[in-house]
Amino acid sequence: MPILNRPDDMERITTKELAQKYIEEQIADIKAQVGDKKVLLALSGGVDSSVCAAMLIKAIGDQLVCVHVNHGLLRKGEPEQVIQVFREELGANLIYVDAVDRFLDKLAGVTDPEEKRHIIGGEFIDVFAEEARKLDGIEFLGQGTIWPDILESEAGIKAHHNAGGLPEDLQFELVEPVRILFKDEVRVVGKELGLPDNMVYRQPFPGPGLGVRCPGAITRDRLEAVRESDAILREEFAKNGLEGKVWQYFTVVPDFKSTGITDGKRTFQWPCIIRAINTTDVVEVTVEHLPADLIDHLVQRITTEVPGINRVLVDYTPKPPATVEYE
Ligand code: XMP
Repeated sequence: MPILNRPDDMERITTKELAQKYIEEQIADIKAQVGDKKVLLALSGGVDSSVCAAMLIKAIGDQLVCVHVNHGLLRKGEPEQVIQVFREELGANLIYVDAVDRFLDKLAGVTDPEEKRHIIGGEFIDVFAEEARKLDGIEFLGQGTIWPDILESEAGIKAHHNAGGLPEDLQFELVEPVRILFKDEVRVVGKELGLPDNMVYRQPFPGPGLGVRCPGAITRDRLEAVRESDAILREEFAKNGLEGKVWQYFTVVPDFKSTGITDGKRTFQWPCIIRAINTTDVVEVTVEHLPADLIDHLVQRITTEVPGINRVLVDYTPKPPATVEYE
């Protein structure tokens, strides 16, 4: 039987050796629980689902079926990395679902932030359920639940759903190989399972993805401006030693335009907002003060390389009074 609760005397997994021991124990538990049956897993590319997938692949190989849904709100290069790491390098049985048009069509014209989240969450379950129904012989659902999820749901802070609430006809027994781990332990274990650093140590990324960084009604052109500017920001943070040091950093492209000038011609385009923050608990957040030459360089790159942007702003507002995300 898998352990459902973190033992009080469990040693914090901080070393390669402790990670290896945990992996061996989990592999034995997973094999005992699953036998020769199949396990289904929604693989977002986030730390928890990725480590969960890597553990299950090691334990049961192609009895694991991973489904990666591209909802069009992922960061630049993310779906490609999931395919490269899991299908090409780890040999996973991976179903890639291109649901970009489906999500963006549903979101067209929707301005209310909570309605946007609701549509993204609901559509995700529908797409995942459709894929699950096409498969035969699935008896288990792999899930990257971690120990803080359990603690928060017990404390009533966050509802932790069984795979985000699958419909009645798709209720599977859960397999949760990182359930008793804290986030830092999940990273140590993930590294030991062979996942790349930029997957294991990546910054937090919200479930609704770039959708909440394209405030108001999402349009494809403005979403692309968010994606491209975010990629430039991440590239420059990595080059300047800020990756892994700053807790979360991203760009936002709000839905208003201002005048500018390019090659002697008047432009009327969006601004791009840069936000970089640090926190330990996400309740209170401080801003990272960026070097002036880095800001200059980001302004230059974003205004010349990202179509539709003629102005760059830096948001130096802590939380409170501002939240991390814009909606
Ligand atoms: P806020 O904006 O509430 O963000 O100060 C705090 C942290 O939570 C992340 N965040 C989300 N994560 N779904 C998620 O999975 C969401 O809807 C969501 N909204 C905010 C945000 O990125 C930050 O790390």
